[in-house]
Amino acid sequence: MRSAGLRTAGWGIGRAFIPCSKELALRVLMLAAPGAGKGTQGLLVAEHFGVPHIATGDLLRDHVSRETDLGQQVKRFLDRGDLVPDGIVLDMVRGALEAAKKGSGGYVLDGLPRTMEQARAVYRMTVELDLTADVALYLQVGEDELIRRLLARAEQEGRADDAENVIRRRLALYREVTEPILGWYEGRGILVSVAGDRPVEDVTREVLVALEVLQSVVGQVPDSDRRSIDLTGLDAAFGAAPEQWPGSGD
Ligand code: AP5
Repeated sequence: MRSAGLRTAGWGIGRAFIPCSKELALRVLMLAAPGAGKGTQGLLVAEHFGVPHIATGDLLRDHVSRETDLGQQVKRFLDRGDLVPDGIVLDMVRGALEAAKKGSGGYVLDGLPRTMEQARAVYRMTVELDLTADVALYLQVGEDELIRRLLARAEQEGRADDAENVIRRRLALYREVTEPILGWYEGRGILVSVAGDRPVEDVTREVLVALEVLQSVVGQVPDSDRRSIDLTGLDAAFGAAPEQWPGSGD
């Protein structure tokens, strides 16, 4: 249970308008493979709930482009698609979480944790700051679609780590060290899984509906009674075209 932090009004998605009430400021971790839409959805979720979007990749790339000391230290890790040492990312995130605590106390943390060690460290840090996450949001997208998106972005934006060999390295690392963490959040009852292989606005709509519902119960349900939610089979209810609905065309 925790005390309330106020947040902003409502937000429109396409033709849908999902109103926000004055409730607890939501704390969300984004967990998903490279290209799954963490940045895209993380930003929209943060805007909707009026909380900061803390994206470790963006923070690191900003240091690289400004050629700070930290940027010079981490550039080679980003260029190869390797993970930056835990100490560096955790220090960076602590600063951002301390700033979030001075605001509403909510946040969307995108890109961390990536390893079990980071998951434990960020848990300890958020317990200490009294900012433990309410939701670990997982976006499920198949490997072919992930590669397609990242190669498309390489052509449009030229991000240094979107070269095909680096993409494959990032995906392999994700499967090896990040994906196994999902089970830990599932066990804690805070994992929300959503199918991310649909148009952006469909994914957003489903994510926001799920988070709105969860937000309304977060302060009232003891942590020990929380249950993880798997929405990955709900395409028909959230945006699939009628001809794609189960049973159509039979
Ligand atoms: P980071 O920036 O976090 O990269 P990533 O995890 O590889 O994720 P991406 O930004 O590629 O994808 P995304 O899931 O955010 O998807 P997005 O919305 O952008 O990290 C970069 C590097 O920093 C790491 O490799 C590592 O070196 C380092 N790092 C970061 N955090 C670290 C940590 N905790 N520990 C150690 N090192 C760390 O979308 C991708 C593309 O798809 C976009 O073009 C987008 O427009 C498009 N798209 C999104 N959604 C859809 C959709 N529904 N349909 C079609 N296209 C879509």
